[in-house]
Amino acid sequence: MLPAFLVRRIGTGCVYSKAMKKQTMLNLNKRNRASLLLPAIFFCSSLAGAALAQDTGEQLFLNSCAECHQRDGNGIPNIYPALAGSEVVLGSGVDVALVMLIGRGEMPSFAGSIAHADMAKIINYVRNAWGNSGEHISAETIANLK
Ligand code: HEC
Repeated sequence: MLPAFLVRRIGTGCVYSKAMKKQTMLNLNKRNRASLLLPAIFFCSSLAGAALAQDTGEQLFLNSCAECHQRDGNGIPNIYPALAGSEVVLGSGVDVALVMLIGRGEMPSFAGSIAHADMAKIINYVRNAWGNSGEHISAETIANLK
């Protein structure tokens, strides 16, 4: 994943090129600059879009958790527990963090593969998606659990 500052750079660059596009099209139509500019803008927006999407709790959940707990948080009965309405998930962010850090049964530990900041985003997402509701946890709180 791209570091956040780079993502912001790319994002800003794309907004800038979009605003410039109108201007450039008006001024440089004769030289047909648009044929170069349009693919560049397209590439730029899809890159920034993909990078930004990666960063949300939802996207991180889809990448690391949904294969078992499913996109809708309902899991698969008798195999993967639902996170929607789960007592653990509704209970506290710390409990969810401990499950992620330690692993549980068939669920692997994510201590070595997901950074604390991303864990916080995932936890805050699952605790507030699919009708769940819970206060947010910070990356620092998770780091202090170790
Ligand atoms: C390989 C499948 C798999 C993946 C991937 C996975 N889990 Fe799990 N998860 C499980 C299983 C199986 C359990 C039940 C373990 C047990 O109690 O024996 C579980 C339990 C849980 C629980 C406790 C739920 C309850 O009500 O008891 C939470 C919370 C949880 N997982 C969150 C996550 C999060 C967040 C992710 C993504 C970072 C994730 N899981 C990824 C399989 C998985």
